[in-house]
Amino acid sequence: MSTWANLGLQDSASPLMEQLIFFHDHALLILVMITVLVGYLMFMLFFNSYINRFLLHGQLIEMIWTILPAIILLFIAMPSLRLLYLLDEINEPSITLKSIGHQWYWSYEYSDFNNIEFDSYMIPTNELSNDGFRLLDVDNRIILPMNSQIRILVTAADVIHSWTVPALGVKVDGTPGRLNQTNFFINRPGLFYGQCSEICGANHSFMPSVIESVPVNYFIKWIASKVNF
Ligand code: CUA
Repeated sequence: MSTWANLGLQDSASPLMEQLIFFHDHALLILVMITVLVGYLMFMLFFNSYINRFLLHGQLIEMIWTILPAIILLFIAMPSLRLLYLLDEINEPSITLKSIGHQWYWSYEYSDFNNIEFDSYMIPTNELSNDGFRLLDVDNRIILPMNSQIRILVTAADVIHSWTVPALGVKVDGTPGRLNQTNFFINRPGLFYGQCSEICGANHSFMPSVIESVPVNYFIKWIASKVNF
């Protein structure tokens, strides 16, 4: 999760988020190079007092500064498209989690296991324990196994919400009447916090999602404790 003065991206907990961070750094590097080059040229032009009296046209330089930016853009577009299709790929998930957005909480369904379902509300500040995170912790966490492909289906019951967990590189809108799909792979145990990211009403800021990533055998124990035989 993010802590004080953490202005960059969170550490990744999934291969897709790792790729997103690589792409961000790549695009930023190109942006810095363009800014420095253009900034230098503008700075030098301000202090240039020479003129070319015979200058009427400059075909060559026009060609260069038209084609060069197009080529530079390709170096951003190609990796961007690769990432886009990578994020959209579903790799034979072993578990499906359904997230339904409500005003203002999330409810979850594990359809593979006798349809376990529960609501997940933010813990209000006055009820928070000493080790809890204000505005982020919930009463019922999503428990998921690490090192497994997980599919999530996102929808909403009233208005548009967005199920977002930055450390996993997941951000899917929950729209009434639609079912959106994505998948991820958590590569380490831990707690991963996220917040709704569609402006969905008065308590938009107070419907976080918390994933507790655990080893597979712990997950099976948890599932067994939830299923009513
Ligand atoms: Cu739900 Cu914003």
